[in-house]
Amino acid sequence: MITQERLPMVAMPSMNDTHLEDIIIINKLSKAIDAKDAGAVSLILKELIEHTVVHFSGEEEMMREKAFPPYPVHKGEHDRALNELRVVAKNFQSAQNIEAVKAYVETLTPWLIQHIQTLDTVTAMFLVNGVSPCSSGAC
Ligand SMILES: [Fe+2]
Ligand SMILES: [Fe+2]
Repeated sequence: MITQERLPMVAMPSMNDTHLEDIIIINKLSKAIDAKDAGAVSLILKELIEHTVVHFSGEEEMMREKAFPPYPVHKGEHDRALNELRVVAKNFQSAQNIEAVKAYVETLTPWLIQHIQTLDTVTAMFLVNGVSPCSSGAC
């Protein structure tokens, strides 16, 4: 479980709202895992995929519109994470292994926090304030 207080904030409120929705779904998934409710796990995994597609494509559209210099790095990390989530959901449909989903969620939460603290933070600073991460040598 991840509390709202542990969620890092970025400079763009709409991104923070999306991240909060993310942790609400992830926490719901954790509860279904603890309850060993395979039907709920399956439905929530679908919900998480749908939300993640909207979350990532929204950020990617804003980055493309403003020509964010390290766009390929951020997009590459989204593609990798979404692909991993899709594989976990697909495997769950066939194997119904709740422990595998549990192990995934244990890596998803720290990944999400780390992603928000790094790529999302510099992206929001660029989109809102025009601060380029390249000015500090990050490109
Ligand atoms: Fe994000
Ligand atoms: Fe992102």
